[in-house]
Amino acid sequence: ETKPRIPVIWLHGLECTCCSESFIRSGHPLVKDVILSMISLDYDETLMAASGWQAEQSLKETVENYKGKYLLAVEGNPPTKENGMFCIVGGKPFLEHLRWAAKDAKAVIAWGSCASNGCVQAAKPNPTGATPIHKIIQDKPIIRVPGCPPIAEVMTGIITYMVTFDRFPELDSQNRPKMFYSQRIHDKCYRRGHFDAGQFVEQWDDEGAKKGYCLYKVGCRGPTTYNACSTTRWNGGVAFPIQAGHGCIGCSEDGFWDNGPFYSR
Ligand code: SF4
Ligand code: SF4
Ligand code: F3S
Repeated sequence: ETKPRIPVIWLHGLECTCCSESFIRSGHPLVKDVILSMISLDYDETLMAASGWQAEQSLKETVENYKGKYLLAVEGNPPTKENGMFCIVGGKPFLEHLRWAAKDAKAVIAWGSCASNGCVQAAKPNPTGATPIHKIIQDKPIIRVPGCPPIAEVMTGIITYMVTFDRFPELDSQNRPKMFYSQRIHDKCYRRGHFDAGQFVEQWDDEGAKKGYCLYKVGCRGPTTYNACSTTRWNGGVAFPIQAGHGCIGCSEDGFWDNGPFYSR
C-alpha cells in the first residue's frame, strides 16, 4: 500500500491478443486489483482508456519520465523480414517500437509463446521472420512466460511477486519462473494413475476415452511439457485441457507447432 505503483508499458506485436484475454480473467488476484492498485498500466493498446495521440503521448511520457524504472511487457513478437514491414503500429514497424521501448526499461516480460518462443507465426517456414523477444533484446533482464496463452494466475502471480519483492522470481535456464514452470503437466496430471496402470485411450471416443484413461497414445505431450496447468489449472482452478478430454499439445514448449502432429490417431 505504501509503494508507488510500478509503471508498465505493454506492447503488442504479431499476436492474437488471447494472452490479454487470459490476463483479464485472473481471479487470484483479481485483475482489477493488479491494474488499479499494483501497477500503473500507462500504455497498452488493448487495456487503456486513451486512444490516438493521447495514447502515444502517454507512452512517450512514461519512457521519458521513468527511465530505468518501468517494466516493459510484450505480447507477440516482431517480424524481422523486410525491415519489419509485416507489423506496423502507429506508422512504424513494431520492431522499432520494441527496441525503443526496451532501451530504458528496467526489465522485460515476454508474455506467452509468441513473445517467448515465436509460436504459430514462427512455425516453418516462418514467412515474416517472426522472432522471440529475447533474440532481439539482449541487454535487459527478460522473464519468459510461455503458454498459448499463459494461465491468468501465472501472469498476475508473477506481477504480484515482482511488486511485492521488487525482483524477478527465481528463473530456470530458459528464464521461466521456476514456481510455475519447474514441473511437467504429466507430473501432476490426474490421469497419471491410468498411465502407470497401462490404461490408455487407443481411439477417440473408445471405451477408454469414456472412462477417462490416459491420452498419451492419442498424442498427449504432457510428459514433455513444462507448465502449471495440472496444478494451477484454468478458469480460476476449475479445469485444464486434459480434464476436458483433449491431450496437452505442449503449447508452452519451444516450437510446439513444428514438434510433430498434435494427434497420433
Ligand atoms: Fe495468442 Fe498464443 Fe500468442 Fe498469446 S501466445 S498472443 S494466446 S497466439
Ligand atoms: Fe501424462 Fe497426458 Fe496421460 Fe496425463 S493424459 S498422464 S499428462 S500422458
Ligand atoms: Fe497448453 Fe498443455 Fe497446458 S496444451 S494449456 S500446456 S495442458
